[in-house]
Amino acid sequence: MSRPTRAIIDLAALRANLQRVQACASSQRIMAVVKANAYGHGAVRVAEVLESNVDAFAVRSLEEALTLRDAGISKPIVLLEGFFRPEELPLIAQGTIEIVMHTGKQFEDLINTPLNEAINVWLKVDTGMHRLGFSPNEIETIYERLKDCSQVAEIRLISHLACADNLDDAMTEIQSEAFMELATALEIESSLANSAGILGWPQTHADWVRPGIMLYGVSPFPNRVGTEEGLQAVMQLESSLISVKRIRKGDSVGYGATWTSPQSMLIGVVAIGYADGYPRHAPSGTPVLVNGTRVPLVGRVSMDMITVDLRNQPNARIGDPVVLWGKNLPVEEVASLAGTIGYELLCHVNCPIESY
Ligand SMILES: Cc1ncc(COP(=O)(O)O)c(C=O)c1O
Repeated sequence: MSRPTRAIIDLAALRANLQRVQACASSQRIMAVVKANAYGHGAVRVAEVLESNVDAFAVRSLEEALTLRDAGISKPIVLLEGFFRPEELPLIAQGTIEIVMHTGKQFEDLINTPLNEAINVWLKVDTGMHRLGFSPNEIETIYERLKDCSQVAEIRLISHLACADNLDDAMTEIQSEAFMELATALEIESSLANSAGILGWPQTHADWVRPGIMLYGVSPFPNRVGTEEGLQAVMQLESSLISVKRIRKGDSVGYGATWTSPQSMLIGVVAIGYADGYPRHAPSGTPVLVNGTRVPLVGRVSMDMITVDLRNQPNARIGDPVVLWGKNLPVEEVASLAGTIGYELLCHVNCPIESY
């Protein structure tokens, strides 16, 4: 690869984070969420590393599931949004892929599509997030109808937490109570907890937990970083200096000339920008590591470059290593300065991925 921009994936950290999930939810089964290319980390490699210690994977689409199957992943794979068109169903059944069912339309499509193999269905109940799912009072009827359906093998209950990242929010308790009541009444396996539920709300653990962001070493809670949850950053986003030059006092830097030099000083140019997934809204002052030392970003983020203030790196040279986030610079910190969350930055990474 000619350009030095890459995401380096620490597979030992990934394994350690899975152990953290296991420590929090020791009697639960684990559905590792590897949608969106494993939050930008490379779904196939991540799934290969996790496979022997998890019970299932969760993805967004049949294509994501088939990519894992084609790579030899054999554990169950759950489509978190279910299927979008009934034509997908034969491939789903053939690939022993499981579906979340959240609408009457999906139910009708399923019962009207003959299949050679029955599929496992995760029946989604809307316990208060009001995104996907049947309302709690519809669940028993749909469950009874699914039980009679020859296309359906096992049925399990699933729901999603809306506010688990706020440990003071009463919503989680309300959702959890409604969910557990239904799961108990139906006497079926169930799954409610995402990373925030796993780390902060033991009462949501149910039979299956669904960790996503914590596997990648990032805290699901605002104003906290992964290490505070006993997690290790899995991704390091790296590049290097491709230009170092002295500018004069009063010279402006970058598009829009938004930053002006207070003195004669060294400016470094790093080969990374918003086309690589570095956030365009990262403001001047956002930390970047040059030779392992924090320096501030200055000026606007360009498509494939950023500029940094090298006043505290007077010996910096072209080719010197730069880290945009990773173990020594939490992605949560960069995200917060850019007005977003670590999840978004990781998912947007668009450069070669290497793992060790
Ligand atoms: C239905 C569902 N379950 C679990 C997860 C994992 O969430 P987290 O990454 O916060 O652990 C997601 C992620 O968005 C999801 O949509």
